[in-house]
Amino acid sequence: MKIGIIGTGYVGLVHGAVMADFGFEVTCVDIDKEKIDKLNNGEVPIYEPGLKELLQKVNDRIRFTTDLKLAVENCQVIFIAVGTPQAEDGSADMIYVFNAAESIGHYMNEYKVIVDKSTVPVGTGKKVKETIRKQLENRKVNYEFDVVSNPEFLREGKAIKDSQLPDRIIIGCESEKAKEIMKKIYDVLYLKDTPFIFTNIETAETIKYAANAFLAVKISYINEMALLCEKVGADVQEVAKAMGMDGRISPKFLNPGPGFGGSCFPKDTRAIYDTALKNDEEMLVIKGAIEANEKQKKKMVEKIVSIMETVSNKTIGILGLSFKPETNDMREAPSITIIHELVQKGARIKAFCPGAMKEAKPIFSDVNEHIKYCKDEYETVKDAHAVVIITEWNRFRGMDLQRTRKLMKDNYMFDLRNIHAKDKTVQELFKYYGVGKG
Ligand code: UGA
Repeated sequence: MKIGIIGTGYVGLVHGAVMADFGFEVTCVDIDKEKIDKLNNGEVPIYEPGLKELLQKVNDRIRFTTDLKLAVENCQVIFIAVGTPQAEDGSADMIYVFNAAESIGHYMNEYKVIVDKSTVPVGTGKKVKETIRKQLENRKVNYEFDVVSNPEFLREGKAIKDSQLPDRIIIGCESEKAKEIMKKIYDVLYLKDTPFIFTNIETAETIKYAANAFLAVKISYINEMALLCEKVGADVQEVAKAMGMDGRISPKFLNPGPGFGGSCFPKDTRAIYDTALKNDEEMLVIKGAIEANEKQKKKMVEKIVSIMETVSNKTIGILGLSFKPETNDMREAPSITIIHELVQKGARIKAFCPGAMKEAKPIFSDVNEHIKYCKDEYETVKDAHAVVIITEWNRFRGMDLQRTRKLMKDNYMFDLRNIHAKDKTVQELFKYYGVGKG
């Protein structure tokens, strides 16, 4: 069975590599010629641990092209893995998904299974089906096809493992024929006892948003709890640990921080909220999680300013710019709000990120005159009045704290991920502030 994948972003590229690793012949298509040229030259346009190695390993079974016709004609199963960016009104912009569907209808030459992997609002599967059908009608041909919803749950930074060993596989489809083909595609996982949920398309589409929104709610919940802990002298890490011991709650995703970011939670929470509104329902819990997240980012700055009394003309060393470790992704990173607000309040910024220096510069183009980008953590903290750890990259856990202290002008440390919270030396060396450590 030959597999086509439209879109070579995080999802498409990782899924393509994993499908090739599962033994299939894979054709990855993208309209971005520069990206395809890079991939054909062995370059990987995104930073994802293990992806380059995996692509090298499956080199003989994966190819990259801008020729959508070739992919559609040659492949029996075509995954749509294009972006669904946020439109101005908060809804998901579906233009790329429907363009892909139109092209598939335009080039279809026999029975195909079209699988939606992009995160799409409920109802999209039906619309994709209508779009393809219209194209076939225009061409006056009548090929049979099935549309399937197969959402992905991979995390950036851990995408390969998440795809090779997922917690579950969700297949939303309407025909036995498509179901059997999808089973064949994930045969390897079937044998590894990965749980499979076969359901209708609408349910599969909803599962994806429900899962992401729930995780976002969980983070906002613990972030608000952290704010309370600070006020009442409680320790949020112990609260989270004890909460997590209740099997119904689980300890995962209970780490407080400067707010959730990335290409998924902020966009997906807004999109499902929007879908509900369009269906005459307001999802108040999700609305609360979105608002709490915005508040959380601002609270971090308020705290820094109130403790230091002023940041005007103070040098603040920022460690970590990407929205989380092991990625160069700056989308909706809390560092964006935090740095902009600090600059607005008169601070001079020194910054270092192990992954996203190149990506960060254009994002801060309006305030770059106030930012000095540094080569490592030690250059960043040199002559700084305060150090702010925004992203929990491992190298910041292992940094030389004595050296850090000696290099700094004053000794404020704001550890927005609590990575040094249990280290006694830190409390001795710095005026140390974690999150939710009342
Ligand atoms: C998220 C989901 O975890 C994946 O299951 C999903 O497939 C993906 O979105 C998607 O829809 O494509 P991702 O955005 O890569 O994955 O990152 P996460 O590891 O979930 O982190 C999201 C944000 O939450 C980060 O800013 C992170 O720092 C924050 N977070 C996470 C916390 O503040 N506390 C936690 O305990 C966990």
